[in-house]
Amino acid sequence: MATNTVAALGAGVIGASWTALFLANGLRVQVYDPADPDGERLGAYIDNAWPTLTALGLTDRGDRANYQLFDSAAAAVDGAEFIQESVPERLDLKHALYAEIEPALLPGAIVASSASGLLVREMQQGWRDPSRFILGHPFNPPHLIPLVELLANEATAPGVLETAEAFYRGIGKITIRVNKEVPAHVANRLQAALWREAISLVQNGVASVEDVDKAVWAGPGLRWAAMGPHMLFHLGAGPGGLGEFCDRYRDSFHRWWDDLDDLRLDDGLARQLFDGVVEEAAGRPVESVAAERDALIVEFLRGRQTLAENG
Ligand SMILES: NC(=O)c1ccc[n+]([C@@H]2O[C@H](COP(=O)([O-])OP(=O)(O)OC[C@H]3O[C@@H](n4cnc5c(N)ncnc54)[C@H](O)[C@@H]3O)[C@@H](O)[C@H]2O)c1
Repeated sequence: MATNTVAALGAGVIGASWTALFLANGLRVQVYDPADPDGERLGAYIDNAWPTLTALGLTDRGDRANYQLFDSAAAAVDGAEFIQESVPERLDLKHALYAEIEPALLPGAIVASSASGLLVREMQQGWRDPSRFILGHPFNPPHLIPLVELLANEATAPGVLETAEAFYRGIGKITIRVNKEVPAHVANRLQAALWREAISLVQNGVASVEDVDKAVWAGPGLRWAAMGPHMLFHLGAGPGGLGEFCDRYRDSFHRWWDDLDDLRLDDGLARQLFDGVVEEAAGRPVESVAAERDALIVEFLRGRQTLAENG
């Protein structure tokens, strides 16, 4: 089934961004969010996101007005081939929503949840037939960050994962498959591991908040935006690649891993990090720092597109 009409259930931080991306890709979007019945918040979000989507070359086939607001979730999914659920991260809320929409779905429709922390098998309990319900976890904001983590399991019908992958790739996303249900999927676990050590370095007085941040963005972070850690280390030890890298450096890494701390983010530590980041911002409002982040990400993604176009 070709996807022309998508439903966005929840249009908060994540759902509004998904909606903007769907519209940029020429899809019709049916939206339900009880907190924004007139779509004022959503309209402002789309207006704000559109120049970024245009800079990424994504809006040529798009129509930013091609969405309709509904006053119930069941009405919003009527006729939609793909449903992106982005309601708050509460199992009871998600279950109630699934119970409401399930009878109204098109027979082949796929429902993907944006959930960051809930397990698919927990969310599936809200379904009579969970075979077309999967995880489609984005990174914030979905209209800018390409990654979507997909997870299906033994209750998923054959072909559903592949259809969802094709859909997401068709709108410019980069998908990965999460093969096993673990809290926080893949990318948030990686973030959590790095942040734990970043905090620990500050806590132990090894470096300031600003210098730890710099050590990431001006160092390995720049490489990580180009490639992942395994491929980078494959490039880092001569012709033997990652095999040689492991032989050469495993003892060092074992020593370093053994030295990493466990961590609890108590109030005092949270305050220390907050003060450090305020100093790092040097009086710049959060909006200005966020605009710089988005502009840099757009330039980076454009660079990747240019490289891909030039072979
Ligand atoms: N914020 C992030 O960084 C992030 C990143 C990836 C995934 N997620 C996931 O996306 C989902 C949404 O998170 P968010 O940050 O957008 O939350 P949010 O609170 O900003 O938005 C949720 C929206 O859902 C609406 N809503 C509540 N009940 C609803 C219902 N029954 N039907 C339709 N809409 C309803 C709310 O009014 C609200 O506008 C969560 O599962 C979260 O884990 C969040």
